[in-house]
Amino acid sequence: SGPLRLGLAGLGTVGIGLVRMLEREAALIAARAGRPVVITAVSARDPKKDRGADLSAFAWETDPVALATRDDVDVFIEVMGGHEGAAKAATEAALRAGKHVVSANKALLAHYGQPLAELAEANGVALRYEAAVAGGIPVIKSLLEGLAGNRIKRVMGVMNGTCNYILTRMQSAGLPYETVFEEARQLGYLEADPNLDVGGIDAGHKLSLLASIAFGTKVSFDNVELEGIGNVSIDDITLADDMGYRIKLLGVAQMSGRGLEQRMTPCLVPADSPLGQLQGGTNMVVLEGDAVGQIVMRGAGAGEGPTASAVMSDVIDIARGFRTPVFGIPATELADAVPARSATP
Ligand code: NAP
Ligand code: HSE
Repeated sequence: SGPLRLGLAGLGTVGIGLVRMLEREAALIAARAGRPVVITAVSARDPKKDRGADLSAFAWETDPVALATRDDVDVFIEVMGGHEGAAKAATEAALRAGKHVVSANKALLAHYGQPLAELAEANGVALRYEAAVAGGIPVIKSLLEGLAGNRIKRVMGVMNGTCNYILTRMQSAGLPYETVFEEARQLGYLEADPNLDVGGIDAGHKLSLLASIAFGTKVSFDNVELEGIGNVSIDDITLADDMGYRIKLLGVAQMSGRGLEQRMTPCLVPADSPLGQLQGGTNMVVLEGDAVGQIVMRGAGAGEGPTASAVMSDVIDIARGFRTPVFGIPATELADAVPARSATP
């Protein structure tokens, strides 16, 4: 068959990472995909910006919806961000036009995962999103494929590198939250809306996606109990340290007899545990299956290389013909996520 043709919407950290990976590893990727993988067209807001990569071979579309529906695009890659507007419109348009979609957009999927999954499956196309959760850690594939025979008991983890950077830096340097927050801003770690990071929202988006796959329920971000790190003081951190603990923004999702529990909140973890020792902008995901036991995955949750790694793995899966249901079982068969608290008298 001919090349698999990509339409790339978004030429920022993730998009340019993908362009560079394809430039560098075209032969390896073609061998693994079973056919050449090429970018045919791209889109971003500013056509004049120097992006440090040669884009001259690609057609330019100003409108991501036009990009998503081009005849010479087989797979639409959405790496623009934002859960409304262009990202949503272009993703829907691509799926309706029978294009496969690869997305890094956890916010979009956390809000619209169910209708988008139904649209993809009704149109017989793939919607993959490995980069949306924990960057380079292949946690979604692990749940969808490697652990498909398990009843998942619990999903847990640190899924926002910026919060982990702030908390570990406060602990190691003895600096107050406000000072480290400012450092993180200057290092470019914070999202354009920093509350997505420090308010726990970004990590909550990620947890809600993992919970859906793990427990066969519709994505239910609204039911994630959220508390960010803005109220964690240096005194809290010092006191925890004195008792042999670290404070982490920890996500936990589990199904109890009362329903689905999803929490993303600052928690105490033993300082000498793998979670307690997690440093800087790193992520860690802990999966517990009834047959496999506990699996711990640790790695880079963000950045050009790790996200390109995750996006490309989805592209190669699509080239190989994998059509796993978006959340592991057909979207129309996902159960309603009954939040545990609603069952409490
Ligand atoms: P970014 O550096 O801000 O880049 C976003 C790109 O999208 C830019 O090229 C921008 O164009 C383009 N864009 C934004 N709105 C657009 C619109 N309305 N129409 C056309 N183009 C538009 O973002 P990023 O860090 O690459 O992140 C992209 C996505 O990946 C987000 O959903 C993010 O949450 C997710 N993600 C990122 C990381 C990471 O490490 N950065 C990790 C995991 C997931 P201009 O350049 O012209 O402004
Ligand atoms: N703001 C996110 C983080 C980027 O700090 O983990 C990756 O999703």
